[in-house]
Amino acid sequence: MYLHIFIFMCLDTLIIAMQTPTKDTKFKFNTLSNVYLPYAYTPDPLFGLGEDAAEQLSFEPSSKLIYAVGNTNIHVLDMADVTNLTVLFHQSYTSVAITDVHVCGGHVFVAFDNTTRHEDGCVNVYKLYNKETQTLDLVHSIKVGTLPDMVLTTPDCKTLIVAIEAEPYDDNANAVLVDNSGGIGLVKFPQGPNGAYTKNLESQGVMYINRNAKFSDDVEPEYITLNTEGTLAYVSLQENNGIAVVDLASEEIVDIFGLGFKDWTLANIDPSDRDGGVHMQPWKVFGMYQPDAIKMLRFQNEDFIVTANEGDSKDYDYFSEENRVGDFVLSELFGRLKVTSVKGKNETTQQYDQLYSFGGRGFSIRRASDMSLVYDSGDEIATKTAELLPHLFNANGEESIAVSDCSDTRSDDKRGSTIAVYSLDQTAAEITPQFEAFIYGVGDSDETRGDLYTARDISMQMLLQHLRESLKAA
Ligand SMILES: *[C@@H]1O[C@H](CO)[C@@H](O)[C@H](O)[C@H]1NC(C)=O
Ligand SMILES: *[C@@H]1O[C@H](CO)[C@@H](O)[C@H](O)[C@H]1NC(C)=O
Ligand SMILES: *[C@@H]1O[C@H](CO)[C@@H](O)[C@H](O)[C@H]1NC(C)=O
Repeated sequence: MYLHIFIFMCLDTLIIAMQTPTKDTKFKFNTLSNVYLPYAYTPDPLFGLGEDAAEQLSFEPSSKLIYAVGNTNIHVLDMADVTNLTVLFHQSYTSVAITDVHVCGGHVFVAFDNTTRHEDGCVNVYKLYNKETQTLDLVHSIKVGTLPDMVLTTPDCKTLIVAIEAEPYDDNANAVLVDNSGGIGLVKFPQGPNGAYTKNLESQGVMYINRNAKFSDDVEPEYITLNTEGTLAYVSLQENNGIAVVDLASEEIVDIFGLGFKDWTLANIDPSDRDGGVHMQPWKVFGMYQPDAIKMLRFQNEDFIVTANEGDSKDYDYFSEENRVGDFVLSELFGRLKVTSVKGKNETTQQYDQLYSFGGRGFSIRRASDMSLVYDSGDEIATKTAELLPHLFNANGEESIAVSDCSDTRSDDKRGSTIAVYSLDQTAAEITPQFEAFIYGVGDSDETRGDLYTARDISMQMLLQHLRESLKAA
């Protein structure tokens, strides 16, 4: 059996799905239908690229409804006819940014960031969309900490896990950085989500933020995945390059693992966004993996965690860890790479002996029990992009940048609309994912992504690596 792993090229989203019986089973994607969601209603719908109209979605298979959230709206879409996706319903809110949605059993869980002066956000629990009354009926509104970023439940829907990111913000009036307490919220519904609940915001105390103190103090929980038994939650602490493990029964953080560093003397990296092209070579720099999305993978009766190593930094007016290599090392090619100022400094010489950059530029697989690294994609995603999608190499996906003219922002490493597909042979002795294909949302156009969006011309295309190889061989 082959399992497929889909990695969104901004390396912040992962899907592990689709089984095919053999390696040679050719899979192909066709666009069946597109639907564009408004980011706001005034009351007329407003559309635009990069406005967070559809931040997250969750599919409810028995009713074939999609719950899509973004910006200030919840949308319900009907997928009964996949060639004709239709928006059935929308509900709008004010002074919020909706960050996530998760459907479990008969309920929909939606996370709201409170944009009113960074007050606590909440998770709302609704019954499934009622087609007869055309309503989304609220069951609970549960106050959690600042900026709940992800919601997930155990398969029985009786435990809700909330990643409370609590990103800091600049307080301009007092010229300071305010850093609220980040953490992991557990909400338990012993009789199911219709009944009463108990709440434990594990963050309070355990992971209180203090920038002058130790590693665990200024974490920003980002993404959650569960072990196969549904007893442990693994939570990525992106900026801190770590993963926390929460025991759902005892409601305690039982472990915090640091993820170590990727040695770029052993693989090729293009560190510059201003060198006018593809320049891959080893450099003396370490990458912090810093995953956003993490997903559990069952391989031969053992749990592994796949991590999408996006990278992120703390960069605010009143605190920033960002520097460019050029601040320390004179090198035209290398100098643009962003590195952290909080690690690698020799206290005697006050020089940086080691440099640490943000993100791993790929994905990794780790043993869940001890977080040891069993696989890393190295430089393969960048190498395959240079080979198969050269016009998208370094593309940062921004609206203003022409699709084929965006070869220079690699150090910021954002390439929207492209998905790398890997396959994994589940009968093999070791975990060795193979690159299969790119699926990408723009063609070889010189239009900007914004123009393609406005023209409703963003459609998914697929580029198969093995197809290329067979063409080359022919
Ligand atoms: C698509 O669905 C909508 C809403 O149900 C319906 O009005 C429309 O006729 C359908 N279009 C097609 C082509 O089936
Ligand atoms: C935002 O915070 C205000 C003030 O505490 C509160 O009245 C409001 O209900 C909150 N909104 C949400 C969506 O949590
Ligand atoms: C810091 O620099 C000094 C002087 O070059 C050197 O002797 C020392 O080993 C360095 N410290 C570390 C931790 O590398």
